[in-house]
Amino acid sequence: MPLLLGILALLSGLFIAWVVGRSRLGGLPAFKGVLWIPSALGVAAVVAAFCHPCGVASIAAVVLGLLSAILAPPLILICSLGKSFGDGGGRWCGRALAIEGRSVVTPAVPGDAWRADRVPDVEHLAAPVRRALASEWLEDARLEHASIAAFGRLSLQLMAVGAPPDLVARTHRAAVAEVEHARLCFALASAYGGAPMTAGLLPRAALDHGPAARPSLVRLAVESVMEGAVGEGTAAAIADEALAQAQDAVVIGVLGTVARDERIHAELGWDVFDHCLSIASPAEARAMADEIQEALSTTPAGLLTGPDAHLPAHGRLGAARRRQIHTAVIGAVRGRVERRLASVPGRSAGG
Ligand SMILES: [Fe+2]
Ligand SMILES: [Fe+2]
Repeated sequence: MPLLLGILALLSGLFIAWVVGRSRLGGLPAFKGVLWIPSALGVAAVVAAFCHPCGVASIAAVVLGLLSAILAPPLILICSLGKSFGDGGGRWCGRALAIEGRSVVTPAVPGDAWRADRVPDVEHLAAPVRRALASEWLEDARLEHASIAAFGRLSLQLMAVGAPPDLVARTHRAAVAEVEHARLCFALASAYGGAPMTAGLLPRAALDHGPAARPSLVRLAVESVMEGAVGEGTAAAIADEALAQAQDAVVIGVLGTVARDERIHAELGWDVFDHCLSIASPAEARAMADEIQEALSTTPAGLLTGPDAHLPAHGRLGAARRRQIHTAVIGAVRGRVERRLASVPGRSAGG
């Protein structure tokens, strides 16, 4: 019996870590609900082993139980951090293509199929600066390319919840805008890098995303706030500030387009959220409120992958400034969500 409890504790700890590791934002809401299971089983195994000692089995139970109870929390935390550090994590170029909580991005390959006809002035730049700028813009290009697919998926989800034609049409226009963003970013990356770069094949995982393609109304509302209001809103704010500091005329033109469009996309996110709220049952509305507040409080605070260069003259803000902007957007979104949710039965503003 003690050995069985110990094994159960270890298996449940691994299972919980696996579930949390695959869920959105590290599955922190799930973390709160199930963390006690391996810990409790582990403690039970230790107690049972001491009450009914039977040699090797008891020792094994104690070891397994203690391991589970001690290792489960940090293991889950590591899974959560791994999520935040995933591809695209913490880089805000708008709506991410999230598959089972992970941001899927398109690989970049040599070629010029996705390269717009824009060439910034690169002659006077040192080689390391050009390499840094090429890497930065290439990361953005991959994310912008993935955003096209994210809006494609959103249009299907909207039609599945009976969204009005205006929202569906705006979603398709957003996807077209992302095509242009990707082309512009590939153009800058190619120019700074001195070699043409283009989009590779979208990972097949993007075509096989199962439940992600048909989320509940609550999930769609949460995603609209997090990917639209927060993600696109942050991208717009970053582009705005970068635009104010950029000096190259071509870069200024690109940032102007991106800033304008991302702001439009952020408002689309709000309108999708409003639609979901308007057709939600009281229970669904309360679930939306709870999950959005949870998501807003656990969203990664700007953990970055890939290159990071503070080269404002060329439209690039450093990670520290991007984190500050992201934090400010989260605060603004939280206030706006609260005002929207104040009318939900059983809730009041602030809680
Ligand atoms: Fe966007
Ligand atoms: Fe974009």
